[in-house]
This record gives sequence, structure tokens and C-alpha cells, in this order.
Amino acid sequence: MAKDKSIYVCGECGGTSPKWLGKCPHCNAWNTLVESVAESGAPSGKHRFAALAPGAGVAVLSEIDAVDVARTPTGLDELDRVLGGGIVEGGVVLIGGDPGIGKSTLLLQALDALQHANQNTLYVTGEESAAQVAMRARRLGLAPASQVSVLAEIQLEKIVATLSQLRPAIAVIDSIQTVYSDQLTSAPGSVAQVRECAAHLTRVAKASGVAIVLVGHVTKEGALAGPRVLEHMVDTVLYFEGDTHSSFRLVRAIKNRFGAVNEIGVFAMTEKGLKGVSNPSAIFLSQHPQPVPGSCVLVTLEGTRPLLVEVQALVDGGGPSPRRLSVGLERDRLALLLAVLHRHAGVACADQDVFVNAVGGVRISEPAADLAVMLAIASSLRGKPLPRGFIAFGEVGLAGEVRPAPRGQERLKEAAKLGFSVAVVPKANAPKKLGKELEGLTIHAVERIDEAMAIVRGLDA
Ligand SMILES: Nc1ncnc2c1ncn2[C@@H]1O[C@H](COP(=O)(O)OP(=O)(O)OP(=O)(O)O)[C@@H](O)[C@H]1O
Ligand SMILES: [Mg+2]
Repeated sequence: MAKDKSIYVCGECGGTSPKWLGKCPHCNAWNTLVESVAESGAPSGKHRFAALAPGAGVAVLSEIDAVDVARTPTGLDELDRVLGGGIVEGGVVLIGGDPGIGKSTLLLQALDALQHANQNTLYVTGEESAAQVAMRARRLGLAPASQVSVLAEIQLEKIVATLSQLRPAIAVIDSIQTVYSDQLTSAPGSVAQVRECAAHLTRVAKASGVAIVLVGHVTKEGALAGPRVLEHMVDTVLYFEGDTHSSFRLVRAIKNRFGAVNEIGVFAMTEKGLKGVSNPSAIFLSQHPQPVPGSCVLVTLEGTRPLLVEVQALVDGGGPSPRRLSVGLERDRLALLLAVLHRHAGVACADQDVFVNAVGGVRISEPAADLAVMLAIASSLRGKPLPRGFIAFGEVGLAGEVRPAPRGQERLKEAAKLGFSVAVVPKANAPKKLGKELEGLTIHAVERIDEAMAIVRGLDA
């Protein structure tokens, strides 16, 4: 096969150059040229339109058959929940996560389960040898009967050839950063290679109906490595997160063309692989025999499921430039909450180090965590624990107002179900009358942060 010519395309203006240059000759931007494959024989300019028959491929929306997407459940319920019901024919899924978090394990288990449901599957490994994959399969207890096809290959053209020959229902590429195309001279893992290989595999998926799962590396900052355009190209983006020191892992959908986003799947890592946790609401609580200062439980909503998470704060004597550190919560938000605490509730930690942590390696991004974080900080500063069975949630604004959180009733119900007895919540989230599901829960409704602080002080034993 004749090698296609590569060209260099400017990421800013889209201008092209036959060779790499430090400065784009069209828009004069520096360091924006990236290698890509020249489309051979494509008519250019106005002749491009002449090549097509008039109106070809145009149809009226109402006349197009809206075929419902066929989903194949993977057999792992928690993964299906995140995917919106299962793998979609011709769909492309990108799954990212920290090294060693369990991406390969999860996908190998999913392929094995699919194979048992008589689906043809292919596992392309670029990071490990076939023997290593077999070893993992044996550890997971899949091996004796497993019919999953394994291909140890990193060259794109060979992978595509295998795909068209085997025609699996689903193929996993582990990982996209190791795949390289002959057409480009840049090294595997470079922006140009990752983009070109992912685009090519996406075209193959759409054309042949093979569902493809791409494993992606993440950068030190926790974002998917490679070009941002990768996330636009695929149908679904999943993140695998969790603390490698604890056994719980979350799979979160960031983007999904076939289902809801922000849905999470919860797994526990065991020697026999990842096991779904179907009722995860209480897994992020640490079991203190006695309430301790600086700990507050919050009810956060992950997709459709309420989760109870313990937030811990430690306020300790700092130096002239005190530190603010948060794990699992946004650091900028922490600085903002400290300012609100000072201004509107008279709680000053300006000369103190403040550390905040969400237990169990969960990442909480919703502002409904504000109230719990602030109560935990105040509790640590005062050295007084919050009462036993205490929960809080609610967003706190810069003016010191406590704003409602979405779906407050569900959060309260989950807390009552798990035996919590005292709640401090935004006024708009407090129910008018206590139903049977909320039995045993005393609810304090607050409108301002200082009210919340006063209630907590009143609860001191
Ligand atoms: N014998 C074992 N018992 C229990 N857990 C194990 C065992 N061996 C490996 N693990 C778990 O499996 C994890 C590795 O999983 P896996 O290789 O699927 O991760 P990955 O996300 O694919 O990593 P990478 O980014 O390196 O490819 C380890 O971090 C460990 O938690
Ligand atoms: Mg792996």
C-alpha cells in the first residue's frame, strides 16, 4: 500500500504546511502545527461540490426511521447503569482512570461476561503481553472457559484488519496511547497519533457496527491524556476513580450520547476482580465508635443515587502563610467557604491551616457539599464533635445564604433509611410534614449560615 503523505495542520487556523514549522505560515501562531494524514484524492475548493450529485443523502427528518439503539447489557450491572443500559452497536466508549485503578480488569470481566452471552469479543492489548492478560484472567477465575479473543498488537492497520476479519460485537483497545499508525511519523502516544488512531477506529466502529472501548491514560492533573478532541469524537466518556488504597471504585459517565451523565457505578476491588456494589449509600462513612470533632456526614447525589459521604476537616495552628488543602473537594471552593464563614458566621481561621478530605477517595463536585464542609471546619476549630447521627447538605452563597440542593427529599429519605437522626438542611428542602419514610429524623431548616452554626451550638451535649 502506498504510504499516504503527511501534512502539518495548524491547530489555530487550520492552515496546512507540507513540513513542520515552528510558526504557522498562515496565522503566525507559534508551535501549533501538528502532523496529520493528508486526505488523498479529495477534490478541493469549489470542485468539491461538483463531485456530489445534487441533494444526495438529504432526507426530511420526519421521514427518517428512528431506529431505537440496540443495547447489549455487559452483564456487569453497575457498568450497564453508567452506560445507560449496555453497549450500543457501533458506539465508541472512552474510559480513563489512574494507573492501576482496574481499567483492564473491569473490561476483561465485561468481555468475558459478554462472551458467555454468546457475543464475539476481542481484547487488543498494547500494554501487556497476551500471557499477562491470560494470567490476569486466571486470577479473576475466568480462564478455563473463556473464549475472549486476545490480540497483542499496537499497529493500527493490523488492528483494523483483525477487526474486519473477526467482526466482533465489541472490541477493547487497551490503550489508545500505545496504538500507532504507519501513516504518521510521530511517536505512539503523541497528540497526532492518538487523534488519528482514535478517529480511524471511530470510523471503523460507525461503518461496521463494532462497539469499541478505548482505554485512555490520564495526566497528572487527572484529565484524559491526549487531545481534548478525543472526548468530542467518542460517544461516551467514562472515568474510573477511587482511592487505590481503599477497595471501592467509582465509574462515572462524563459524557454519554446514549444515556444520562453523572450516573455512577460502584465496584469493590477484590482478589477475584471487581464486584458491583448495588447498595453503595453507606460505603463512604468511616465507623467512629464515638463522634469526633471535624467530621460531618453529607448526602450527595450521584446521578440518580444518593450517597452518604463523610467530610473531615482539620483546623490546626498554622504559620504566617497558613495552608488550605482539600482532597476530593475543590480547593478554590474551600477558600471561598472560609471567607463566608468568617464574614457571615464569625468563624475565623485566617491564621490556621485548614485541611478538608472526603472519605474513601470520592470526588464531590456539587455545591450542596458546602454546608457540611463548613460545619466540619467549625466543629474542628471548636474541638466539639457534631451530634451522633448528624447529616447536613446545602449550597452556601457568598452572602451567607443557604440555598436548596436538588432532590432534597430523596437525600433526606436515604439518611433516615440509614438511621441518621438529626439533619440541618436548607429551608426549601425541609418537608412541610414528616412522612413515614422520614420517621426518626429531626430536621432543622436554615436560611443562613449563622443560623446553622447557632443550631449546631445548641445541639452540643
Ligand atoms: N492478587 C490480587 N489481589 C487483589 N487485587 C489485585 C491483585 N492483583 C492486582 N490487583 C488489583 O488490580 C489492580 C490492577 O488492575 P488493572 O491492571 O486492571 O489496572 P489498570 O487500570 O488497567 O492499570 P494500568 O493503567 O496500569 O493498565 C491493582 O491495582 C490491584 O488493586
Ligand atoms: Mg491496564
